[in-house]
Amino acid sequence: MALSDLYSNCQLLLRWIHVMAGIAWIGHLYFFNFVNLPFQGTIGADIKKVVNPQLITRALWWFRWGAMATFIVGLLLFTQLYMYIPGVGFGATELFSNEQGLTGRAIWILLGMTFGTIMWFNVWFIIWPAQQKILRGVRDGVPADPALPKRAALTSRVNTYLSAPMLFGMLSATHYGAINFVTGVVTIALGLFAIWWAYQTAPKVGTSI
Ligand code: HEM
Repeated sequence: MALSDLYSNCQLLLRWIHVMAGIAWIGHLYFFNFVNLPFQGTIGADIKKVVNPQLITRALWWFRWGAMATFIVGLLLFTQLYMYIPGVGFGATELFSNEQGLTGRAIWILLGMTFGTIMWFNVWFIIWPAQQKILRGVRDGVPADPALPKRAALTSRVNTYLSAPMLFGMLSATHYGAINFVTGVVTIALGLFAIWWAYQTAPKVGTSI
């Protein structure tokens, strides 16, 4: 890649921002599910009132803006790689499709992007609005609708489960390529199992030094 190769330089920059933002987003998702959830069970309402508005609002900021940046830059990356032909213009590239139809790479990334987009939607339109109401309730001493914490927790759990198969989709597009029914099912199953294992392990570890 020459330094003057604008296309490659843009792509690397987009990839880097995308993965940095993805780390911020999914890192906080795992913090909420594997650290904060077991932790909240060990503290009383008086401590929650002091700790949570300060801690959770900060974590939620990185979480939701990480999600937004990952999503937007992911779409830009998709457009550059799959929907733009340098010197020609916008349109499906050979990475996206050929005479046989969609390429393996395109199927992987579409799988990952579908999971990622559902997760982004959940963050912005379910988890964050619910958390805002819950935290305002804690701050003002007015209990929020009891359905809200359940909705937020369930959606957060769904996102956590989706995150592992989603990442297989992101990585396999470039680093694996071919896809068939078995590889698709195995990666989804392995991803779901890894997250299930983390939920089982989370309350039991890290409490002693
Ligand atoms: C929210 C929706 C998302 C969209 C639309 C999206 C889109 C994309 C696209 C188009 C690529 C390039 C694939 C290729 O080279 O063929 C990619 C790669 C990648 N994405 Fe995403 N992505 C999303 C979410 C995420 C999340 C949450 C993460 C978590 C860290 C992530 C991590 C990655 C990684 C690690 C790569 C591979 C980078 C590489 O191997 O160079 N993505 N993504």
